[in-house]
Amino acid sequence: MGYLEDTRETVLKASRVYYAHLAYYGDLLAQRERRAAETTKRELDFLEFAFRAHATHRVRDVLDVACGNGRHVVGLAHRGYQCTGQDYTPERVQIAKVRAKREGVSVKLLQGDATRLEYQNEFDAVIALYILFLLPDDDDVVKSLRQIYRALRSGGILVCNIYNPLYAGKGWFSDVIHKGLNVEESHARGIRITTICRLQDFEPIHGVAWDQETSIIEAPDGMHIFRDRERLRLFTYWDILHYLQVVGFKEIKCYSDWKTKPPKKPKAETLIFVSRKD
Ligand SMILES: C[S@@+](CC[C@H](N)C(=O)[O-])C[C@H]1O[C@@H](n2cnc3c(N)ncnc32)[C@H](O)[C@@H]1O
Repeated sequence: MGYLEDTRETVLKASRVYYAHLAYYGDLLAQRERRAAETTKRELDFLEFAFRAHATHRVRDVLDVACGNGRHVVGLAHRGYQCTGQDYTPERVQIAKVRAKREGVSVKLLQGDATRLEYQNEFDAVIALYILFLLPDDDDVVKSLRQIYRALRSGGILVCNIYNPLYAGKGWFSDVIHKGLNVEESHARGIRITTICRLQDFEPIHGVAWDQETSIIEAPDGMHIFRDRERLRLFTYWDILHYLQVVGFKEIKCYSDWKTKPPKKPKAETLIFVSRKD
């Protein structure tokens, strides 16, 4: 896979195949694994903190762009928010619908591209988590941010995040980018997923990497091996700050690793931006 083949269709197709494969088994593991529940709880606590600290009015209506298996929208619905979730991969939308039904909450779930959001002044908060660095190119990122800005009511906030490519500590993203390899095993009752991520291609001018992932899944219905690849855009703090400003956000605050206070040591695997629409 070379940079020249890195077209919008190739990226979306790779992403679609990758998330469709992981949808069912990833969700099964997430339902049973304590660590996954703890991670989501920490993110949900941060989101509520951001809603209270940065929106100018009480947050009620929330849009999740690229909602995946629905872990954030379902969690926020439990906490009393009116949620809409949208994801490009139909298999993931289906998983999110099943999750919402199983947990007895009402969430509007739709299939759709993050660059085709047709909302206007409808939400008090938009969340776009673990998605910006997966979009096919930077024009798509700006397009999506513009549409998110339009979807927000005045005084509403966007919470979005990236992995920080300048962080070279522990973590799968850092391992793949800096060491070229990450191996992780997650298991819970009846299911074990071993994931091997290898840096397949790196284009250092535009900061684009292709990650090849092999997932070995031991599940109640047998053993499965999936091999997929995914394009990762290595955004820095300055890139995202610039794009948020370009689309019109003025009040922009950056947090690290889901902590609500500045870290004692200035290092961060994940950067989270909270931006308010005037
Ligand atoms: C890393 S997952 C994050 C999901 C969710 N936000 C979370 O934090 O659990 C990325 C998600 O983005 C979706 N996705 C990829 N490209 C997309 C696009 N162009 N528009 C909307 N969703 C997309 C995938 O289907 C996948 O569910």
